[in-house]
This record gives sequence, C-alpha cells and structure tokens, in this order.
Amino acid sequence: MAAHSSVEIAPSILAADFSALGEAVRAVEHAGAKLIHVDVMDGHFVPNISIGVPVVASLHKATQLPLDVHLMIERPEQYIGAFAKAGAAWITVHQEATAHLNRTIGQIREQGCRAGVAINPATPVSTLAEILPDVDLVLVMSVNPGFGGQHFLPSATRKIAELRELRSRYTYNFVIEVDGGVARETVPQVVRAGAEFLVAGTSVFHQQDPGKALQELQRLASEAFLQRA
Ligand code: DX5
Ligand code: ZN
Repeated sequence: MAAHSSVEIAPSILAADFSALGEAVRAVEHAGAKLIHVDVMDGHFVPNISIGVPVVASLHKATQLPLDVHLMIERPEQYIGAFAKAGAAWITVHQEATAHLNRTIGQIREQGCRAGVAINPATPVSTLAEILPDVDLVLVMSVNPGFGGQHFLPSATRKIAELRELRSRYTYNFVIEVDGGVARETVPQVVRAGAEFLVAGTSVFHQQDPGKALQELQRLASEAFLQRA
C-alpha cells in the first residue's frame, strides 16, 4: 500500500466478541476492510489486559488481511520476534514504553514487519523528531489507551496536522494513524488533518451490522480524503 494514496478504516477487534473473532474478521474482510487492528495490552503499560501472541497467530490463519498490531505493553522489544512470527504485518510500539526506541524500531524492521511508533495524548509530537525518518507509521492516540468506547480527544487532530506538516517538510514516508473514539462525527476532521489509517472499534463492532458500519465510515473517510488539500 503506497504511503498516502488512500485512507483506510482499520477495524479494531478489541470491540468484537472474543469467542467469535474469526467471524468478526471475516465480516469486515467481506465488507472491504484492508487491514485489521489488534490491540495487545499487558496490564502494566495500560490498566487493562487483552490478548497476546497466540491470538495473533490464530487471526493470521483466519484472514488474508494484514494484521496491524498495536503493542500497549512495557518493554515491547522482548516480544517483537514472537509477534512477527505469529504473522503481524505492522508492529507499533509506544514511545513511552521502550527505552531504546531506535533499536526497537530496527528490530521490527529486521523481522520483515513495518514499524510504527505510537504516542499517548500527553506526549508531544516533538518527542518523535529523531525517529520520524525511520518509521513506517506514526499512531496518534486520540484517547488514553486501555479501553475501547471512549470519547475522542480533539488535541489529536492538531497532532495529526503537525505530523503531516513534518512529513511533507522533510519528505518522510510514514503513514499517519489515529486510534480512539473514531466514529462518523470524527472521521472527516482526522482525515482532513492528515490521517490515513483510522482505527475504529466501537463504531464498527458495536453496531448492528459491522460490515455496513465499516462501509459507511470508509465512505466518509474517502470523501474527506478527496477534499484534502
Ligand atoms: C484503545 C485501543 C483502541 C481501541 C479503540 O486503547 O488502542 O484501538 O480499540 O476503540 P474505539 O474505536 O472503541 O475507541
Ligand atoms: Zn489500538
């Protein structure tokens, strides 16, 4: 997928029924999803525990779609190899969670995966200045990570715009992703600001027809993308 040629909704399976993940993934794949967002939480970096390596391996068997694995865990460097082997296509680590970010990003790439860095709402974009040339993706958290179904924090839109400006000024290549509280009302503004991957949990899987909900968000996103300067 070329860096900024399209905008994609990445359904987050955190909001799906964990006893029927295969079906959930197939439903959104059938509806046209281009990637699946997988939230890994360790109960330390964030106050919640979700899923880990074995579930990523099972999902990899259940779908052809690239798995966009968001590690909300401390010391993610210890698990890069395992998630890569399990079938992650994209691996994103938090700037706040790894002491040697440059090395960790290098490890992800050595495993043949695309490497992403995420920042929490209280972390400024400026903390990423030295890593931006080396990443394939920057994830702007638009909620404090740990739970689905929270309200979108508007400061994320400004951070997305700042990243887009840096990307164009220095001709970097990273994709901009936004995660948390993405719904019909927030899709247009994040796309216009500069996001290309929009993570959506509640607004897809908590809807009566997740496939239709995904298509509607995708339509709004593509419309805003066409208007983007
Ligand atoms: C939050 C996770 C998100 C979450 C988003 O900590 O990183 O990916 O699934 O959920 P919604 O779309 O419900 O805000
Ligand atoms: Zn996430």
